[in-house]
Amino acid sequence: MEHWTRRKFIQTTGAGIVASAAPFIVTGANAPPSERLRHAVIGMGGRGRDLAGGFAAAKGCEVVAVCDVDPERCAAAAKELADSARVAQYQDHRKVIEDKTIDTVSIATCDHWHTPIALAAIVSGKHVYVEKPCSHNVIEGHLLTEAAKKFRKCVQHGTQSRGNGDIKTAIQFMRDGGLGKVRMAKAINHQFRPPIGRAPETDPPPGVNYDLWLGPAPKRPFTSNRWHYNWHWFWDYGAGDMGNDGIHQVDIARWGLGVGFPNILTASGGQLFYDDDHETPDTQVVTFEYDDCYLMYEMRLWTRYKLEGHENGDVFYGDKGRLDIGGGGCVLQLVGEEEKRITGPGGPGIIQNFIDAVKADDPSLLEAPIEEGAVSAALCHLGNITTRLSCGQLKYDPVKRIVLGNAEATRLLSRECRPGYELAYTG
Ligand SMILES: NC(=O)c1ccc[n+]([C@@H]2O[C@H](COP(=O)([O-])OP(=O)(O)OC[C@H]3O[C@@H](n4cnc5c(N)ncnc54)[C@H](O)[C@@H]3O)[C@@H](O)[C@H]2O)c1
Repeated sequence: MEHWTRRKFIQTTGAGIVASAAPFIVTGANAPPSERLRHAVIGMGGRGRDLAGGFAAAKGCEVVAVCDVDPERCAAAAKELADSARVAQYQDHRKVIEDKTIDTVSIATCDHWHTPIALAAIVSGKHVYVEKPCSHNVIEGHLLTEAAKKFRKCVQHGTQSRGNGDIKTAIQFMRDGGLGKVRMAKAINHQFRPPIGRAPETDPPPGVNYDLWLGPAPKRPFTSNRWHYNWHWFWDYGAGDMGNDGIHQVDIARWGLGVGFPNILTASGGQLFYDDDHETPDTQVVTFEYDDCYLMYEMRLWTRYKLEGHENGDVFYGDKGRLDIGGGGCVLQLVGEEEKRITGPGGPGIIQNFIDAVKADDPSLLEAPIEEGAVSAALCHLGNITTRLSCGQLKYDPVKRIVLGNAEATRLLSRECRPGYELAYTG
């Protein structure tokens, strides 16, 4: 592997920026230091801290750096790691990308930064684990898939259900015809998300690099609602809850049905409940039409009860019965038979799978590869575009990368990055 050689060279000659002077020992990382991948986590909110713990515990990997535009979050995340004094803290992800001693990065920033950071990392020779949704728009997903292939890098998408043994077994059962012909899958996002109120414009918190946080997004004044976590509900940074929680269910539904881009989709939705700073819908129904099946996404963010037994879950409807995948596991209900649970051998999970694929230098080993993640993210973006434009239907051509007969929808397939924050790879 080229990058191993380069790292050995850097270690031997002392060239390059060495983020951590000596390797440190973390639980589970039982390979000798020279064989461990040096990993950095970018974006240290709740998810970034989970990833830091996951990568620190993975075999054959050590977390050597954490990065956040918010130095308080960076320090708090470093502190949680074993031997934290040796974990480098960066405020600017571009320094992480430049650091040739770092082999792999995971990205858990706000969505509008996912693809720009991932592309810069890939182009600079790093392997990437990027949180869902991997893109902020449809075209970015295509670019990520292309770049991963062109630079031959492992790019894993943070849809962790793809590494779940029970779900893999249930989907295989369905693929083998266990449910008969499956003509519909429902992706359910049915939960209560409280209103966020209206936040006034203020100065950003001291020490925070807010301009870097905005990055490719348009320059706007700071408000506490546009900041940590609630950015999900603004189109400049997030993709609403369809691209947040919903993408997990859309991905499982698509995986189970074995489908990609739809022939056509219909969508409607809006705000029936929120009367606050939210830009994204609280209610949404999107139907993706394929040659011989439908994938329906149904979202309500104002309910404290379940839909078909799920807050977040999937139901596959076949002519022999139904299969539920959700918080209650994988439950099979064949007509005339007793309900039964499908279980399967537990795998190592997609973090360890990513490390193993990088060490084998083989992207084909990835369980949640970017080419799948990008399609699931695109479905969410297309559902959002149709909802935002209230245009009812939309037909996307993934080869020409246009929405047929709808210039406004085609415009929303990509964005103009703010000068200084252009993409490192544009095809
Ligand atoms: N796979 C999953 O189950 C799962 C679960 C939760 C969140 N996520 C995803 O993880 C991401 C983060 O979610 P969160 O809840 O932690 O959000 P968050 O807002 O709490 O954290 C994001 C962090 O990224 C930082 N950040 C933003 N731009 C940055 C940049 N350019 N460089 C460095 N740091 C930057 C922010 O300051 C913030 O601390 C989201 O995209 C979300 O969809 C995935």
